[in-house]
Amino acid sequence: MENYTNVTVFDHPLITHKLSILRDINTGSKQFRELVGEIGMLMGYEVMRDLPMEDVEIETPITKATVKMISGKKLALVPILRAGLGMLDGVLSLVPSAKIGHIGLYRDHETLEPKEYFCKLPEDIAHRQVILLDPMLATGGSGCAAVDFIKARGCNNIKFVSILAAPEGIERLAKTHPDVQIYTGGVDEKLNDKGYIVPGLGDAGDRLFGTL
Ligand code: PRP
Ligand code: URA
Repeated sequence: MENYTNVTVFDHPLITHKLSILRDINTGSKQFRELVGEIGMLMGYEVMRDLPMEDVEIETPITKATVKMISGKKLALVPILRAGLGMLDGVLSLVPSAKIGHIGLYRDHETLEPKEYFCKLPEDIAHRQVILLDPMLATGGSGCAAVDFIKARGCNNIKFVSILAAPEGIERLAKTHPDVQIYTGGVDEKLNDKGYIVPGLGDAGDRLFGTL
């Protein structure tokens, strides 16, 4: 895979360890859900590392002081349904006042192309920093479609956060939308002929919601 400046692959032991448990076929839905939420939170912490800060005057119990606080940057968290929902609460626990949008996409099993079934985004999304959430970046079709929806609403400030990616998905998203910052917990070997990441973790939505 090419080196892209807009791609960050997390190498934190906590993320890698939790991802390894997700991969295990013996991990049940309850633990899978908990881990996806925890990884979402850990990733969110890093993804928001560059939030702008501003000086604010306060009074401590001792004296007046100028301290740093996150400046009024408005965030929107946008999970791609269904599996992105699993990451939402973890990220939201860090930024509870963020607005939330939803994009519903499923992959056509034959063509592997995404089909839209729902899209509801905050009115002022054009003025927000959007963090798109989807555990899986496989062919990249769903990721690209979701970014297209958000850009069509005038927003060009987008980060895409996935737990696991295939080289094919990274290439497609990074090339189609070089302005989008992509974050992932790992890049696996390849896709199989059904578009699943190998070795991967299986169907994230089905494992999260127990619909296997
Ligand atoms: C999965 C996953 C991504 C998509 C990734 O969703 O959550 O949205 O596949 O594949 P792609 O990169 O090839 O587009 P799926 O279509 O299985 O829907 P679900 O989350 O409702 O199960
Ligand atoms: N979607 C998933 O849930 N898993 C994959 O491996 C590929 C796409």
